[in-house]
Amino acid sequence: MIRHFLTGEELTSGELEALIERALVLKADRGASNALAGRSVALLFDRPSTRTRVSFEVGVHELGGHPVILREAETQLSRGESSRDTAAVLGRFVHAIGVRTGPHPVVEALAEHSPVPVVNMLTADHHPCQALADLLTLRERFGRLSGLRLTYVGDGNNVAHSLMVLGAKAGIKVVVATPAELAPHPLVAQVAGAQAGPGGSVELTADPQGAAAGAHALYTDVWVSMGDEGDAAGRRELLAPYRLDEALLRLARPEAVALHCLPAHPGEEISAEVLYGPRSAVWDQAENRLHAQKALLELLTQPAPAPPR
Ligand code: CP
Repeated sequence: MIRHFLTGEELTSGELEALIERALVLKADRGASNALAGRSVALLFDRPSTRTRVSFEVGVHELGGHPVILREAETQLSRGESSRDTAAVLGRFVHAIGVRTGPHPVVEALAEHSPVPVVNMLTADHHPCQALADLLTLRERFGRLSGLRLTYVGDGNNVAHSLMVLGAKAGIKVVVATPAELAPHPLVAQVAGAQAGPGGSVELTADPQGAAAGAHALYTDVWVSMGDEGDAAGRRELLAPYRLDEALLRLARPEAVALHCLPAHPGEEISAEVLYGPRSAVWDQAENRLHAQKALLELLTQPAPAPPR
């Protein structure tokens, strides 16, 4: 049983498969679980959000719990109270803590000192809740995950990292095509490859066309993520050959879908034709944040098994 969910590395392949299957059940019946009845979840935001904020708040409510939304600027964290003390105190009130922030070590520090489970709702390095929703979307579209080829094109960012970790763990061949200057962190690729489930793998390349060939899904994300605004022009120049458009989609399998975690910039990293076209699965992806995160919260907050007598 996992204690925190910070990168996705915490889950075994079997636990990940079970979580996705449970999410399908929770999607079919949104009132199927009251796992958080009488319990509260703190959701701490240091960065803007639409999907994460609403899906977690609604998800906690649908599980029978109470979401406590905290803007970091309105807490004592903004005046220097430590992550350690914040985690210790929040853990006396609530039954789980979700955190969206920039530096990944902040989430790790909270988890280290929290008596209740901590969920990474996005850091600069990882976005594992997004990857859970992405896997759920692929599972719905193709009826399986193992053996699929998922190609990510663009910036080797937090979304690419989490797709590598959780995609490979689910048995997917994850191919990430980026300019060399924006490649994913090699250590994340190494860990993702080492933790890959049966049939799963990670391949890094600079060739978007080669990466797209034979793919079941093409995925991209914004070229200028939160925190990268200072180098926007340089990133746009480097990433121009990595646009997800009709020409790239034609190289993928005939049944391939287009994915994007949103928010999108149509005409930049993805063409409007693809984003709003018949092969786009991005709206299912967005909705699936809710169902996948409900399954995750259930898993994290389930009572510990009784010790053997
Ligand atoms: N995909 C995602 O995390 O969206 P938000 O930034 O709106 O939460």
